[in-house]
Amino acid sequence: SPIRVPNLQQCELAMDASVSLPLMTLTLNCCLPIPPQSPRHFSFHKYKSEPRVRQAAHTVSDAYIAKYTRAYELMKALPDDDPRSFHTQAKIHCAFCNFAYRQAGNASVPLQVHFSWLFLPWHRWYLYWHERILQSLLGDPTFALVFWNWDDQRDGGNVMPAMFVPNGTALYDRNRNQNNLPPTLVKLRPNTTGNDSAVVNQNLNDMYQDVVTATTAELFMGGAYRTGTDLTNATVINAPLGGLLENGVHNGIHFWTGNSDLPLIQDMGTFTTAARDPIFYAHHSNVDRLWDKWKYNLPGGPRADHNDTDFLKAKFYFYDENARLVKVKVRDALDNSKLGISYPTVAADELWVNYNP
Ligand code: C2O
Repeated sequence: SPIRVPNLQQCELAMDASVSLPLMTLTLNCCLPIPPQSPRHFSFHKYKSEPRVRQAAHTVSDAYIAKYTRAYELMKALPDDDPRSFHTQAKIHCAFCNFAYRQAGNASVPLQVHFSWLFLPWHRWYLYWHERILQSLLGDPTFALVFWNWDDQRDGGNVMPAMFVPNGTALYDRNRNQNNLPPTLVKLRPNTTGNDSAVVNQNLNDMYQDVVTATTAELFMGGAYRTGTDLTNATVINAPLGGLLENGVHNGIHFWTGNSDLPLIQDMGTFTTAARDPIFYAHHSNVDRLWDKWKYNLPGGPRADHNDTDFLKAKFYFYDENARLVKVKVRDALDNSKLGISYPTVAADELWVNYNP
């Protein structure tokens, strides 16, 4: 049966362990606030969204960056226990990725939203509510996240976006790899060596492998995760149900961005802390964009999402812009246009789409 919303009253400490040396674990409290009002159900009618375009981070104007910074200042200024605060937003990722909750209907198994077909829809919903909260804090329903266009190997997307770099702004995070600040080119595969053109070639190859060759939903999005599926022992280097996009270039950016001198490559390199870096949400906007690219815009397309009812009916909790719990279904996340979200056409996509290894 499909994954259902967990009982938030039963929360455990979240656990995170390194997958490479030095071996270590991190334990922290990622229990989420429980608002007094009962949860609402999402409906397109009740939660009508203004149309908005998520632009590439390296292309936005100074005025846009100022507004974006302001939005995160406001979010960071909220008290930690406010469901809309940056603190709680980051905890949501930790809670559903590091075993703070048990599966409804099978309490012996912890809930995990990575490593399976839940990965793409869960993160789409996560961005959707995060963005709605930023909109409401700014009083601008057309405000949109940016996407970090790390797959662009030609027009300037493949470095850490400048808007996140200056020390001291609300978009800055101190726990990043200081060797990977601009103009260092992103490496979608950790341990790529060689000069810039070798890196670019490897990046194009990885994009081609993880997106173009992933012809089925199973390959691209990941495998079935139902009530009872136990991924307690899955890791970023051993995730047999994980899709190619998640296991490949998506993880690559997490490792590349985090500080490899810190335990578990904090912040971006590990689930418990990844969403403490505002760049996380821009990273995942690109993952989200690539899902649409895969689905609608590859040669021979369109390609089909999973249509198993255990996929379509899986349910999650998020907080809406009024700090109220809202229950959402995977089914309602499958069409970005219904959520009001769109991405511009990126010409440089063609470099990896047509890459011939
Ligand atoms: Cu929830 Cu990019 O990981």
